[in-house]
Amino acid sequence: MKGVVLIKLWHRILGYFIPHYGTVYHRIGGEKFIGTLVDDFYHIMQTDPFAKDCLATHAGRNIQGSSEKLKAFLSGWLGGPQLFVEKYGHPRLRMRHFPFIIGESESEQWLYCMKVALEKSQLPQEEQNNLIEAFRGLTKLIKNRD
Ligand code: HEM
Repeated sequence: MKGVVLIKLWHRILGYFIPHYGTVYHRIGGEKFIGTLVDDFYHIMQTDPFAKDCLATHAGRNIQGSSEKLKAFLSGWLGGPQLFVEKYGHPRLRMRHFPFIIGESESEQWLYCMKVALEKSQLPQEEQNNLIEAFRGLTKLIKNRD
């Protein structure tokens, strides 16, 4: 019992000194991890023929800009600094995707790119699975065609 109290106290102390301690953001490696993950994600989307429909939704966009926006969003969504909100306001992900036709294949391909990028990251498998399930929930929200 005393041990449990001491451990809780220890985590409180760490939380006081380490920014975002106890969040997924901190656990997976913060800004550096997200940066590499998103760079890999967009690299896969641009080079793997399987992701061609998802890439096509980005026609005419500056992928570097899309990549920076995704990094900023993931930072806050995973419990770190709210970079996207600070710069662009409320994410409103569904609304922001309305200009693009996003059906089953685009959603599946987006998830595929993220899955391959996560595998490359070598994050523990359970952590990868949790993230993919969370992303799947977001793609369901964003999908705007059958
Ligand atoms: C379901 C498949 C998806 C497709 C095909 C897709 C496609 C796109 C496209 C074409 C853009 C515009 C890029 C630009 O303005 O430069 C965009 C923006 C964005 N996407 Fe997605 N996306 C998908 C899912 C997701 C998911 C799951 C997330 C979050 C984890 C996400 C986060 C964002 C963000 C934060 C932006 C920037 C929004 C803005 O400021 O306008 N997207 N997406």
